[in-house]
Amino acid sequence: MKVGFIGLGHLGRAIAKRLIDQGIELIVWNRTISKAEEFAKETGAEVADSPADLINKVDRVFVIVFDSQASEEVIFGEKGLADGEIKGKTVIDMTTNHYTYAEVAYRELKKIGAYYLDAPVLGSVIPAMKGELTVVVGGDKEKFEENKVLFEKFCKAIYYVGEAGKGSKGSGKDARRDKN
Ligand SMILES: NC(=O)c1ccc[n+]([C@@H]2O[C@H](COP(=O)([O-])OP(=O)(O)OC[C@H]3O[C@@H](n4cnc5c(N)ncnc54)[C@H](OP(=O)(O)O)[C@@H]3O)[C@@H](O)[C@H]2O)c1
Repeated sequence: MKVGFIGLGHLGRAIAKRLIDQGIELIVWNRTISKAEEFAKETGAEVADSPADLINKVDRVFVIVFDSQASEEVIFGEKGLADGEIKGKTVIDMTTNHYTYAEVAYRELKKIGAYYLDAPVLGSVIPAMKGELTVVVGGDKEKFEENKVLFEKFCKAIYYVGEAGKGSKGSGKDARRDKN
């Protein structure tokens, strides 16, 4: 099973590397494509041409970008995930989003037959490399259960908190998220 991964910033890169080290095959995309190519050279990951191209090749995709605006661009923008063959597939958004965005993203993806897990992470680069992050997940329980095995590759604590938006609301960072 190949898994999609979008966002090779500081934390994204560390999580992606950890997943590969744990035996997960990744197809990656990053806005600055040279970062994705460099990552691929180092790890053997495949690089997609765009989020839309990426979702055509996988059933689930992690997204970890700067903020809600960046997440919206990657999911709903031009050549975004929603432009590809996304029906029946799951977007696992680990971006630190505002919870109202997570609620909308969940609803909009549902309308086109796709699933959204709102899954902000707590921790930083070193805990990510050691598989010691914490993740707080909101969204459909069935989709959470399906993807739990992937969270276990890089998290020491995994909390399912109910509907989409509750992951972002419940992780105690709302004040900071209001920047989004
Ligand atoms: N760093 C941490 O320790 C930490 C801890 C907990 C939570 N988080 C959260 O995790 C998320 C990512 O953090 P990070 O440290 O990896 O951030 P980062 O190093 O600033 O990287 C940001 C990533 O977002 C991408 N991006 C930004 N704007 C974009 C846009 N409009 N469209 C597409 N991609 C865009 C960047 O692409 P480019 O490479 O093209 O710029 C890069 O891949 C954030 O929401 C942050 O709050 C981080």
